[in-house]
Amino acid sequence: MSARQPFHQVRIAEVVAETADAVSLVLAIPDEAAAEFAYRPGQFLTVRVPHPGGATVARCYSLSSAPGIDEHLKITVKRVPGGHASNWICDRAGPGTVLEILPPAGLFTPDSLGGDLLLLAGGSGITPVMSILKSALAEGRGRIQLLYANRDECSVIFGAELRDLEAWSAGRLHVEHWLDAAGGPPTAARLIPILAPFADREVFICGPEPYLAVARETLGQLGVPSRRVHVERFQSLLENPFEPEPAGPAPERVATAEVMLDGRTHRLPWPARTRLLDLLISAGLNPPFSCRQGICGACACRIVRGKVDLVHNEVLEDEDFAEGYTLACQALPASDTVTITYS
Ligand code: FES
Repeated sequence: MSARQPFHQVRIAEVVAETADAVSLVLAIPDEAAAEFAYRPGQFLTVRVPHPGGATVARCYSLSSAPGIDEHLKITVKRVPGGHASNWICDRAGPGTVLEILPPAGLFTPDSLGGDLLLLAGGSGITPVMSILKSALAEGRGRIQLLYANRDECSVIFGAELRDLEAWSAGRLHVEHWLDAAGGPPTAARLIPILAPFADREVFICGPEPYLAVARETLGQLGVPSRRVHVERFQSLLENPFEPEPAGPAPERVATAEVMLDGRTHRLPWPARTRLLDLLISAGLNPPFSCRQGICGACACRIVRGKVDLVHNEVLEDEDFAEGYTLACQALPASDTVTITYS
């Protein structure tokens, strides 16, 4: 069996009712875990939630707080119809509840907060977008255009906070709401004139799949290159990263991994059916990771020499592969020697 991920027990300091079906959990991170819970705007936490019968489930929830601005980390959770974890949190989690949580992860975060941004959020997709928005307003000087789509007025999360930020921003932030109840769901034809003036900006999109699809279609028609479009999806984890994974069948071929991590180079025999992340953990190393499913990007590292095959990938784009990036949690050796760096 491979090791479980290093989670922390974190107490909920406060629960904020955002809408009738969304709450924010303000988290009291223990002092000894503060460094591990340093985060970038747009990242998420993986939370373990009890399940009937003693089992647990794991879910990823984006941080709506902004580092260096909000005193405490805060995740925002919206009920999913029939969704065990979100309903458990909305109904059962209260001040003092202790949750098991993995440190922040995710690649949905701007390289720089200095430039102009176009932010597109649908429903609870506002959560990581809010974190980016607050950070960019506080630390950058660029202009920010937010298009926020919801079913109706009652579904709008952070409505008052967005109004306050817009008023405070001295014209740098402009928020436009799209309500399906008023105008039907957004379509590319209708979004094109709204987004066209901002098509030269870096774009961050988060929301349900239909919203992502229409947003990407619109940006494609506006000629926005995919390298400028950053997308965060709502994902269900297929495996529980809090639980140990069963060992796989005996490997056939053995390659060599040369891994530069934490300032040292480690040379390890790499069985053909073992994923790089499992190899490093079983060797006693401490590589970064979170979802273990090719979804979050927390395990990203760079190939210096050699080749790997990825079992699954929902994070890296062609540009990332061109720069040598790969996902340790999904990488199997495809050449006799593979040199990898985490620097
Ligand atoms: Fe999430 Fe590898 S740990 S993609």
